[in-house]
Amino acid sequence: MKIFHNKLELIEHLNQLRKLGLSIGFVPTMGALHKGHLSLLKKSSSNNKVSVVSIFINPTQFNSSSDLSTYPNNLKEDCSLLKNISEEILVFAPNSKEIYGNKMYVKSYDFKGLDKFMEGEFRNNHFQGVATVVELLLDIVKPDRAYFGEKDFQQLQIIKSLKTNIKIIGCETQREKSGLALSSRNNKLSLKSKKVASNIFKSLTFLKSNISNYNIKDLTNAVSDNINSFDQMNLEYLIIADEDKLVPTDSINFKKKYRAFISVFVDGIRLIDNIALN
Ligand code: PAJ
Repeated sequence: MKIFHNKLELIEHLNQLRKLGLSIGFVPTMGALHKGHLSLLKKSSSNNKVSVVSIFINPTQFNSSSDLSTYPNNLKEDCSLLKNISEEILVFAPNSKEIYGNKMYVKSYDFKGLDKFMEGEFRNNHFQGVATVVELLLDIVKPDRAYFGEKDFQQLQIIKSLKTNIKIIGCETQREKSGLALSSRNNKLSLKSKKVASNIFKSLTFLKSNISNYNIKDLTNAVSDNINSFDQMNLEYLIIADEDKLVPTDSINFKKKYRAFISVFVDGIRLIDNIALN
């Protein structure tokens, strides 16, 4: 396993591999790796000769400075997890200057409404920061394929909408036995709040199994009330939207694909999840 901090060294190394005709897979992350991230890397390693994982906590996508400053950061631990997957993995761990140069900036994108609701509504300019850094990273790595989790489904759709000729591959959400979606933020939860947080996925599966039996508004209201009935949980949103345009709806046309999207504060920690409904 090789670790690069310098982008020119990584570019040079990848150019050599490309000359040998080796395919390159890429998994962008912000570190604090868990089995969710590792599942993306496993997929990349099985589809490509070489896999690159970037570990970069991108400041331009955070809405609060305390969220940024408390984001877990442990390169050593991350690398020891990666070693278990494959020795062929290349790790790119740049600093901000390496990515943005002397001045950090955010490009302005028109996502054609994909960023209007859910995360885009509650995290101002979040996706402008995500798209900016993902484009910069894709331009450095120039992979054949890049892997993103369905855990952040809106992010996945927004990245698919960027004009690149790189294959963007969505990967299934990995969960704890309790159903709780794996997330770097779960480390901030106490054992007790983790237990309570497992009700997020339970609510989504309940919603999925009852979607054709009830009026959608009544159903989402009942599920929302149930979430808020737990002292430790505070619902931010529960939205049903179509997968393509990500526009909220109160009625389902079974010719299209829909997902339920949820954001909940559990003891002050913000967790998101989603489920395919049909
Ligand atoms: P991060 O939150 O570190 O996630 C990196 C990738 O892992 C994303 O594609 C995310 O969807 C995926 N992922 C996270 N939890 C997962 C889980 N439980 N199951 C499957 N995949 C999971 O997302 C980001 O970083 C950043 O926004 C980034 C794209 C790196 C840009 O800075």
